[in-house]
Amino acid sequence: MPSPIYVFDAYGTLFDVHAAASRERVTIGGGWDKLSQTWRTKHLEYTWIHAMTGKPATFWELAAQSLDFAIATIGGVPDGVRERLLQSYRHMAPFAEVPITLAALKRQGARLAILSNGDPDMLADAVGAAGLEGVFDAVLSVASVKTFKPQRVVYQLVPDQFGATPGDVTFFSSNRWDVAGAKAFGFQTVWVNRTDAADEYPGLKPDRVIRDLTVL
Ligand code: LAC
Repeated sequence: MPSPIYVFDAYGTLFDVHAAASRERVTIGGGWDKLSQTWRTKHLEYTWIHAMTGKPATFWELAAQSLDFAIATIGGVPDGVRERLLQSYRHMAPFAEVPITLAALKRQGARLAILSNGDPDMLADAVGAAGLEGVFDAVLSVASVKTFKPQRVVYQLVPDQFGATPGDVTFFSSNRWDVAGAKAFGFQTVWVNRTDAADEYPGLKPDRVIRDLTVL
């Protein structure tokens, strides 16, 4: 029997996108949480608009544009914070259980990959900073197809990489919309519901829901 193919979304699933603003909470003040949530929500919205309009952009550019909108929303941040928040994408903290769980899955013979909206250099930096080099059989970026999730051509990168069918792939994401896209494509899907969020997309249900990766 071929070894299982486990594919992970990066930001929010393996890497904690809100850790950077949390670290700056004293400097930013009471608006830090709103800034962080707005930044993330707008970053994703911008990817969808660029995917739908067919206008190419890098994830890095959209990170900067959405951060500027989020900063304006809370009325500004002290000097240096914008650059530190943006640079956090280069060394984003993995969730605590991620390194040990991925190492265990690899020891069991699973084939592991990342499939992310991130630019290749962003992903390489984050994987390196998290000490996860050598863990993944492939780190797949949307950059090669010049669009963003949930376009089908993005999910197709995985079967193409492994010479597999979509049904052979188990895809993990904390983003419920990404799970919906992956399910529509034909992957087995696992929603990593880290924030105990309410379910949505009833027509595109995950095959499994977990709180974090420790149960693997
Ligand atoms: C990613 C975003 C969607 O890594 O979290 O693709």
